[in-house]
Amino acid sequence: MRARLVAGNWKMNGSRSANQALLDAIVAGVKGVECAVCMPAPYLAQGQERLRGTPVVLAAQNLSEHASGAYTGEVSGAMLAEFGCRYVLVGHSERRHMFGETDAQVAAKFVAACAAGITPILCLGETLEERDAGRTEEVVARQLGAVLDKVRIGDAVVAYEPVWAIGTGRTATPEQAQAVHAFLRQRLSAATRVLYGGSVKPENAAAIFSMPDVDGGLIGGASLIAKNFIAICSMAQRKG
Ligand code: 13P
Repeated sequence: MRARLVAGNWKMNGSRSANQALLDAIVAGVKGVECAVCMPAPYLAQGQERLRGTPVVLAAQNLSEHASGAYTGEVSGAMLAEFGCRYVLVGHSERRHMFGETDAQVAAKFVAACAAGITPILCLGETLEERDAGRTEEVVARQLGAVLDKVRIGDAVVAYEPVWAIGTGRTATPEQAQAVHAFLRQRLSAATRVLYGGSVKPENAAAIFSMPDVDGGLIGGASLIAKNFIAICSMAQRKG
C-alpha cells in the first residue's frame, strides 16, 4: 500500500517569525503520516535548520528547468538540494496560468528535479471551462503525457488540483476526485502517489482521503493555519 503524503503549499506567504511558529507547531503536532512543507525559496535555509532531525520534510514550490547560468531570478534544482529539499512542486496551476509555463517546460522542470535528486510533485488539473466542456480527462492526460513522453514517473508524486477548486472554497466532491485519480492511476506505476489539492480543509479532508485512489493531499490556504494543517494530516493517517 502506498504511504500517504500531505504537503503544505505555503505559496507566497510567510515571514521569518511566522514561519518559525508554524514550523514549531507542525513539528510538534504532525504524527503518523509523511508531511512536507513547500516554503518560499528565501526561507528554505530557515526550514532546513528547523526541520533537521524531525520527520517533517522540506520542499520547494518551483525550480528552473536549467542547471545553471544566465537565468536571472531563477533557482536550480542543485541549489534546492543544497538546502535539503526532498520534494519540489512542478507545474502548479498558478505557474501554468499566471506565469505561462507550458507542458514542455513543466516536463523539463520535472527532469531537472530528478537530475538534482529531488522528487518532483507534478501538479495538473483542468479549468472550470475545460470541465464544463467535458474535457477533464483529455487535459490531465495531456499534462501527464508531456512528462511521461520524457521520463518514467516511477516513485515521483502527482497532484491532481482542479483549477476551479484552488483557493475558491469550492472543493471537488470525493467522487469527482476519485474519478480523475482512477483515470490517472491507469497511466502510472503502482508506486506513484496521487495527491488531491483544492480547498482541502479539516471539514472535507477525511471524505477525500477515504477514496481508494487518493494518496494524500496538497494543501494551500489551510496549511498556513497550524491547527487546520495538523488536523488534515491526522486525517490522512491510515487506520488499521
Ligand atoms: P487551496 O488549498 O488554498 O485551495 O490551494 C490548493 C493549492 O493550490 C495547493 O497547491
